[in-house]
Amino acid sequence: MTATTAEPAIPADWTHRHLLGLEDLTASQITSILDLADEFNQRTEQGRRKLDLLSGTVVANLFFENSTRTKTSFNIAARRLGADTVDFSASGSSLSKGETFVDTALTIEAMGVDLVVCRHRTPGAPHLLARHLAAGVLNAGDGTHEHPTQALLDILTIRQRLGRIEGLTVALVGDIRHSRVARSNIHGLLKLGAKVIVCGPATLVPKTIRQMGVDIAYDLDEVLPQVDCVNLLRVQFERQRGAFFPSIAEYAHLFGMNKQRIARAKGDLLVLAPGPINRGVELTPDVADGPNSAILTQVSNGLLIRMACLYLLARKADN
Ligand code: NCD
Repeated sequence: MTATTAEPAIPADWTHRHLLGLEDLTASQITSILDLADEFNQRTEQGRRKLDLLSGTVVANLFFENSTRTKTSFNIAARRLGADTVDFSASGSSLSKGETFVDTALTIEAMGVDLVVCRHRTPGAPHLLARHLAAGVLNAGDGTHEHPTQALLDILTIRQRLGRIEGLTVALVGDIRHSRVARSNIHGLLKLGAKVIVCGPATLVPKTIRQMGVDIAYDLDEVLPQVDCVNLLRVQFERQRGAFFPSIAEYAHLFGMNKQRIARAKGDLLVLAPGPINRGVELTPDVADGPNSAILTQVSNGLLIRMACLYLLARKADN
């Protein structure tokens, strides 16, 4: 069933044709995306109904790296707005015949694509597309650099559960060094007035990250009592060269969220994880499925955030 089709207004300060990272957005622009996601939540009854706002728009998902949540979520979000979608996967494409990344994207764009969602293992790959394509480009994760829609859905989940962002203390725990989710969260949370602590083994927390305006902690138990929200980042074994800690068991012992740690934290501690989660590593199953966890709410919010981003960029491209 299609819900009401009244057009949400585009904020006067929305100037972007692309969504490449939260570093490029102001606090007010980030808030506009969160507000629009909330509006879509109401108007679609938690994403269940369709809005006929982007019929005629074609969204291409160009994923050069694995994805479960992000790709599916962009797909459903586009369709919930009435857009058409096309999926591209690097394996099985003409990339194996020597076609370049940009030529592949230009070829897909020439079929009448308005928006391109791009995930690539190379930092800056979506920025390169933004320079070459007329279509709007959304970064769905570029290497270790940024993953803006993931941070937006994390921040939306915090705002829903805890009522605000300003004045909260959020700990990003785990593999900070390789995490695009961490970088985007840091930009977004600091702009909205939260305090951010990054916490993990010294080998996975580069000291230079302090320049972004965060505090560094190597002992989770020391900082936990002052934290309102923990975001448990996956150890990105696929991006690591060499061993960064002695064993997974030791990592889980020092940085894994478990029942004992929950008991020592604030009662309403919010537990987030971008997923994919490794049960028993970043968190125990009882925490993942317990009352402090909002992991599946994050996934639902991802749909709303991606609807908001697609809508803003599609309307910008129209003007
Ligand atoms: C993250 C990613 O791909 O950067 N996952 C996601 O998009 N939900 C984090 C991860 O892979 O650990």
